[in-house]
Amino acid sequence: MNAIHSNTLLHAVRNGVKDSRARQALDRLLPRLESFWEIENVSQKEADEIQLRIVQHWDDLFGYLVHLYGDQWDFFYHLEQILQTIIRGWRLRPDTLKHDDDIRMNNPNWYLSEKLVGGALYVDLFSENLGELRKQIPYFQDLGLTYLHLMPLFAVRPGNNDGGYAISNYRSVDPRVGTIDDLRLLAEDLREAGILLVLDFVFNHTADDHYWAQQAQSGNEEYQNYYFIFPDREVPDQYERTLREIFPTVRRGNFTWHDGMQRWVWTTFNSFQWDLNYRNPEVFRAMLAEMLFIANTGVDLLRLDAVAFIWKQMGTNCENLPEAHTLIRAFNSCARIAAPGLVFKSEAIVHPDDVVRYISHKECQTSYNPTLMALMWESLATRDTKLLRRSLARRHKLPEQTTWVNYLRCHDDIGWTFDDADAAAVGINAFGHRQFLNAFYTGQFEGSFARGVPFQHNPDNGDMRISGTLASLAGLEQAIEADRDDWKELAIRRILLLNAMMLSVGGIPLVYLGEEWGALNDYDFVKDPAKAGDTRWVHRPKMQWSFLDELGDDGSIRARIYRSIRKLIAIRKMTPAFGGLDMELLVLESQNLLGYVRQHEGNRVIVVANFSEHPQQIDSNRLRTAGMGRFFEDLYSGQTITTSHPLTLQAYEFMWLHRV
Ligand code: GLC
Ligand code: GLC
Repeated sequence: MNAIHSNTLLHAVRNGVKDSRARQALDRLLPRLESFWEIENVSQKEADEIQLRIVQHWDDLFGYLVHLYGDQWDFFYHLEQILQTIIRGWRLRPDTLKHDDDIRMNNPNWYLSEKLVGGALYVDLFSENLGELRKQIPYFQDLGLTYLHLMPLFAVRPGNNDGGYAISNYRSVDPRVGTIDDLRLLAEDLREAGILLVLDFVFNHTADDHYWAQQAQSGNEEYQNYYFIFPDREVPDQYERTLREIFPTVRRGNFTWHDGMQRWVWTTFNSFQWDLNYRNPEVFRAMLAEMLFIANTGVDLLRLDAVAFIWKQMGTNCENLPEAHTLIRAFNSCARIAAPGLVFKSEAIVHPDDVVRYISHKECQTSYNPTLMALMWESLATRDTKLLRRSLARRHKLPEQTTWVNYLRCHDDIGWTFDDADAAAVGINAFGHRQFLNAFYTGQFEGSFARGVPFQHNPDNGDMRISGTLASLAGLEQAIEADRDDWKELAIRRILLLNAMMLSVGGIPLVYLGEEWGALNDYDFVKDPAKAGDTRWVHRPKMQWSFLDELGDDGSIRARIYRSIRKLIAIRKMTPAFGGLDMELLVLESQNLLGYVRQHEGNRVIVVANFSEHPQQIDSNRLRTAGMGRFFEDLYSGQTITTSHPLTLQAYEFMWLHRV
C-alpha cells in the first residue's frame, strides 16, 4: 500500500464513522499519534495499518466508552490514554503473533473447526513447572489436543490463592512454576506443535497483595478508587439487600473488613480477592494494559473469568448488568485493534438466558456451556434425556462466528444452572429436582453410583454445588471400592458416553486433563490448610505419570479410557460434520435416548446414545430418513448398521453413524 492510497483509504473509512462525535474525537486524536510514530520509528506502512484498524473499530469502541464513562468530566483524557494503551500493546506485539493475526483476520471462522480439541491443566499438578511442561507436548499430541488451557499461573499471594485466581502481578509468573520467559518459550513450542494457548484474564478482582491493593491499604486514595472500599456498613448493607452469596462457607455476605485500613472491601469470592471498580476509567485502562501484555506472551484464546460480576449497580444483584457487556465489548474492540488474532471465552456460570448474552463476535466469541454440562449429568442421574433435549432444542444455536466450549468437568464445581421454566415444561419441579441431583451426586440417594462432595452449601436457602472428578461422579470410584466388575464396566461406559456427547454435539470440546485416564477424587487436599476449606480440590489431583506404563495393558481400566477418548478425538478431527454448530435433534421413542444429526459442509453424522443401563431400540425408519441412507458405519466401533431391522443400543452405548 503506498502512502497516498492508504491515506485515501483511511479517509474513506473515517468518513464511514457514523457517530459525528466519534469522528470528531478521531480527527483530534489521530494527528497526535504522529509523534509516537516518529519516536518509535514506526514505518508509514505499519502506521497506516494500525490506524486503519483504529478507524474501523472506532464507532464501536467510542460508543462503548461513552456508555461507560461519557459522563466523566475528563472523558477525553481517558479516551486518549486508552488509545495510547492500545497502540503500545500493538507496538510490543511480537511479529510471529502479528503474522497469525493477519491469517486469522482473513479466516474469521477459524475457531469453529472440528480440528479444535482442548485440554486444561494446572502446570504444577501436571508437570511441576513450565520447563517440564514443554517436554509433555508429545503427550498432548498423542491425545490429539490442539488447544491447551493452563490454569492461572501468574504471581499469587502467599497461602490460599484460590487455585491461582488471586493474582498479585499479571506480568510475572509464579516463581514456583517458572518465569515469563518460560511461558513465552512454551507458547512458541505449542505454536509449532499446532496447539493453541489459552490463559485466564482474571479481571474481576486482584489479590489483596497486588500493588494497587497495597497502595490502597497504605492510604493512597488514587488506588482506593480502584476498588470498592467503604468506611462503615451503611453502603455495603444497602448493596447486600439484593446480592447473592457466591462463597457462603468462606464468609457471609460480599464484604470483608480490612483491619489495616479499618474499612470494608467488596469481595465477591474469597476475602482476599478484591473486586475491581470499573466505574473508574483508569481501572479499565490499567487492566487493558495487563490484558494486552498477557495476549502478547502468545495467547490465542483468553478465558474471561467471572464475567457476570464485573459491574455493580445499587439495587440490583450486580450480576450480568448491561454495563458488564459493554465493558467486555470495549475490551474486545481494543483487542480487535491491537491483537486481532485473539479470541475471548466467556466464563459465565449463570442462568442459560444470561450465558448467551455474552456470546457475540463483538463480545465473547466463545463461551463455556454450563447448561449442557449440568444437563448431561442430570440425564445420567435420571436416565431420562427430556430436559437435556428441551434445552438443546432451544439453546444450542448461537450467532454467526461464535461457538460453545463444551465440557464435562472443569476445575470448578457443578451447579444446576438450568432454566426452571424449561424444567416445568417437561414436568419437572426445579427446586425438588436440584435437591435430588445434589443427593444423587453426593451419593446420598438410594442406588446412586456417584461419589461427589458438597461445595458451598448455603444453610439459608439450601443451595449446594457438587465437587468431584468425572470418573468418581460416573461411578468408577464406587465400583473399584466395591470391587464389582459389572459396575466398573458401567462406569467406564458412562465416562465414554459423556465424552462422545461432548465431542460431537457442536462446539469446542474441552477435556479437563486427568479425565482421559479416569482420575478419581483425591481426598488428601484436607491435609493442606490452604486447601482444606475448598472441596473443589478433591477434583484437582496430581497427574500420575506412572499410569502411562499401563497403556499397553489390555486389562487396565485407565488404558481403556485413555485409548477410547484418544480414538474419539481422532475421529472427531477427521469428520467435517463435527465442525460448526448445526445440530438437529431426532425424535426417538425412548426417553432414555438422545439422538441428533450433525451436519457441516455436506458431511452428515447421526449421533445416538443410550443414557440408561437397559438396552433401547431405535426404529430403523428414523435412521433412514435422518441419515438419508440404508447402511451406516459406526465411526467409533467400525461396525456396519443396516436399517432392515431396529437398532439396539446396549447399556450406555453410543454410535456415530455415517452413511456408507
Ligand atoms: C472463576 C474461577 C473460579 C474462581 C472464581 C474467582 O469462577 O473459575 O475457580 O474461584 O472465578 O476467581
Ligand atoms: C459461581 C460463579 C462462577 C464460579 C463459581 C466458582 O458459580 O458464578 O463464576 O466459577 O462460582 O465456584
